[in-house]
Amino acid sequence: MKLLTGDWDKPNSWALDTYKASGGYKALPKALKMQPQQIVEEVVKSNLRGRGGAGFPTGMKWTFVRKETSFPKYLVVNADEGEPGTFKDREILLKSPHMFVEGLVIGCYAVECHRTYVYCRGEFRDSAMKRLQTAIDEAYAQGYFGKNILGSGFDLEAHCVFGAGAYICGEETAMLESIEGRKGYPRLKPPFPANAGGGLFKQPTAVNNVETLANMPPIINLGGDEYSKIGLVPKNGGTRLYAVSGHVKKPGVYEAPMGISFRKLLDDYCGGMREGSTLKAIIPGGASSAIITAEEADWASDFDTLKAKKTMAGSGAVVYFDQTVNMAHALANVMRFFAHESCGQCTPCREGTAWLSRLLDKIVAGKGAKLDVDNVHQIARQMEMKTICALADGAAMPAKSYIEKFRADFDALVRG
Ligand SMILES: Cc1cc2nc3c(=O)[nH]c(=O)nc-3n(C[C@H](O)[C@H](O)[C@H](O)COP(=O)(O)O)c2cc1C
Ligand code: SF4
Repeated sequence: MKLLTGDWDKPNSWALDTYKASGGYKALPKALKMQPQQIVEEVVKSNLRGRGGAGFPTGMKWTFVRKETSFPKYLVVNADEGEPGTFKDREILLKSPHMFVEGLVIGCYAVECHRTYVYCRGEFRDSAMKRLQTAIDEAYAQGYFGKNILGSGFDLEAHCVFGAGAYICGEETAMLESIEGRKGYPRLKPPFPANAGGGLFKQPTAVNNVETLANMPPIINLGGDEYSKIGLVPKNGGTRLYAVSGHVKKPGVYEAPMGISFRKLLDDYCGGMREGSTLKAIIPGGASSAIITAEEADWASDFDTLKAKKTMAGSGAVVYFDQTVNMAHALANVMRFFAHESCGQCTPCREGTAWLSRLLDKIVAGKGAKLDVDNVHQIARQMEMKTICALADGAAMPAKSYIEKFRADFDALVRG
C-alpha cells in the first residue's frame, strides 16, 4: 500500500495540481475542524513511531507537549538526514513536498505551534529545500499556510534553517542549539525538548522527522485505527520508507508495510541480490545500528522486534552486503565517520571513536594483532550508556556486532 509515494512516478509529482488531483489538501480542512487534542488522539491510535531514528511514539511526544502550560510552543522539523545510508526525507521533499507541508500544518495545529522551523542539511539548499520553499510559498498563496488558515483562525509561519554539514546537528538538542545560533552541542537531558526548559528557546517543542509528519494526511484521512492496521507488527503502525542500498539489483526508496522482513524487502522490492552476489550481512537501520547476518534476514524490520534483537530500526536505511565485503573494512569505514563527527564534549565518545578508528585502520592495513580486535570490542563496550547523546552508543553498537557476528573477517587480516 502506498500512502506516501503514490504520486512519485507521475510527471511533476511535486506540483500542487498533481497533489490535489490525488486527494491532497483534503485532510487539512478536516483536521482544522477537529480539536487539536482529537488529532493527537488519532495519532496515538495510529501507532505512528517517529521515523528519524529512535522510533518514539509520535502521539505520546505530542501529548507531552500539549500537557505543558508554557507558551509559545514549537514544532521543529528534523530534515537533517545525516545517518549514513539514509536518503528518504530528501525524496519526500523532492517528490511530494506538499504532502509534507500538509502534514506539517496539521502537526503544528495539533501541538498549538504558530511558528515552525525546518532544519535542513546545507547540501539540500539548492535541491530538496528549493522544492520545499516553492511548496510552502504555494501553500501560503492557497491559504493553507499563514494567517487564518482556511478561515479556521489558526495562524502559522515557517522558517527554514540550514546546517553546515555536521552529523551531530541531526541530534535533536544539538539541532535546537544550532537553530538558536550556537555550536551544535547536544544538551544534557532532562529537561527533554517536549518540556518547558528543554525545547527551542526553552519552550515546549515537538521535534519531528520529515517522514513522520508526511504521515499526517493519511492518518487523518484513514483514521488512526485503520492506519495502525497497515503495520505488520503491533504498536508499529502504517508504512515505512526504506532507503535501500548495497549489492541489490534495484537500490532505491521503497514504501512497504512497517515491519516487513528484510528478506521480503530484498526479494519483492529490490529484485534480489545482484548477479553473482550472495547475501552476507545487512545494516538494518543506518550505520549506527548493529549488523545482522544473512540467516537473520527473516527478522521483521519494526522498532520493537529489532530492539529485542539488540539492534535497531533506526532511520530505515537498509544496506545489503554480499560475499565480497570484508566486514572489518566496512566497520573501519563506518568508524572513520563517527570519529570525524563526534562533537567532542564527552571523553568516552571523543577518545573512544578516535581510538576505535585508529585500531580498525591498523587492522585493515594488515598491521594489527588479535589483541587489537579484542580491544575494539572492549573499548566499544566501555563507551556505552556513558555520554550526553546517543552518538557514542551508535558507534559502539556496530563495533561490537561486526566483531561478534563476523570475527573471521577480522582474524583473516591480523597476526596471531
Ligand atoms: C547522532 C544523532 C543524529 C541524528 N540525526 C537525525 C537526522 O538526521 N534526522 C532525524 O530525523 N533524526 C535524527 N536523529 C534523531 C533525533 O534526535 C530525534 O529523535 C528525531 O528527529 C525525532 O523525530 P521523530 O520522533 O519524528 O523520529 C539523530 C539522533 C542522533 C543521536
Ligand atoms: S556522545 Fe559524542 S557526539 Fe554526543 S555529546 Fe557526547 S561527544 Fe558529543
